[in-house]
Amino acid sequence: MGAALQSPHNIFVTARNFDWGDDLGATVALVNRYFDDYNGNGFRVHPQEVALQRQLRGVPSLQRLSRMIGHAGARGMAITGLGLAGLDEASRNAVLYAIALCLGFPTSTDQRTGRVAWDIRARAGSELQNRFVTFSERVGNADMHTDSSFYPMPEEQFLLYVVHAARCQGGASLLVDVDDVHAELQRSAAGRAAFALLSATPLPFRVPSVYAASDEQVEIHMAPVFHRLGQSLGMRWRYDAIVKGLDARPALATPTLRAALELLNDIIEQRAPRFSQALPDDTLLWADNQRTLHGRALYTDAARHLIRIRISDAPNAERIGPSGISSD
Ligand SMILES: [Fe+2]
Repeated sequence: MGAALQSPHNIFVTARNFDWGDDLGATVALVNRYFDDYNGNGFRVHPQEVALQRQLRGVPSLQRLSRMIGHAGARGMAITGLGLAGLDEASRNAVLYAIALCLGFPTSTDQRTGRVAWDIRARAGSELQNRFVTFSERVGNADMHTDSSFYPMPEEQFLLYVVHAARCQGGASLLVDVDDVHAELQRSAAGRAAFALLSATPLPFRVPSVYAASDEQVEIHMAPVFHRLGQSLGMRWRYDAIVKGLDARPALATPTLRAALELLNDIIEQRAPRFSQALPDDTLLWADNQRTLHGRALYTDAARHLIRIRISDAPNAERIGPSGISSD
């Protein structure tokens, strides 16, 4: 666990370095011009998202924020004291939607309602019995993963906004840099072989049943764990989804493959350096969803409340496959 005490050097925490001035009101007014209603304050994919994006990118404070997030080489960036704590839910979520649209194209996160902004907080246990539930719907910890690993086009980025941090000394946000996972794999012959295998072999990712019509219906997406992203390396990772996918496609589950997955999971969960911080209320966390893995430490405070927005680099009209993904 020694290495796990180090924090990846491309993940930063910094305080907001500009004054919003009148720009919060201007941002809300701009969003208001495009939306007749806020869809229960969750928003939705807007048919004129490209035009709205162009207008929002003209707001000076949103430009400053985008520049902070786009800081050279950053793979994760927590901005404390964002300045939205005093806003009502509708205005706060309008600003979060606007921040996301300045960075790319926020995707719909819930098939039923089309919501873009997703509330991460514990749901009552009775709603979740006998289901392969998603991490955002329960207290406890969340294993390291990338979002939307089981769909054809995982979003390239996501935002989390801390409305109410856990008051139980738990619930730290965790991030691991994919380069550090790769470096750890390169340290042994078994690791190098696992990396080669998991780069070349499409694996079955099982879609969690909360998104499927019924628990009996098994949906699978085939994809390799590692892929090239220009000069760098990206991952799809959701250990439980792969294990359940292999259970549903046992012919693919060779002992060599199982061993490679176990080795990789151990590196990700135990050995790779990790960012681990309990982020305070009113913090915005941005992360690269392919070059980092994320998770959270154990918590018990059911009042913990975050908002998540996933962001695609491509406009929604150009996306392939489902993007109605409720949560993970
Ligand atoms: Fe996630």
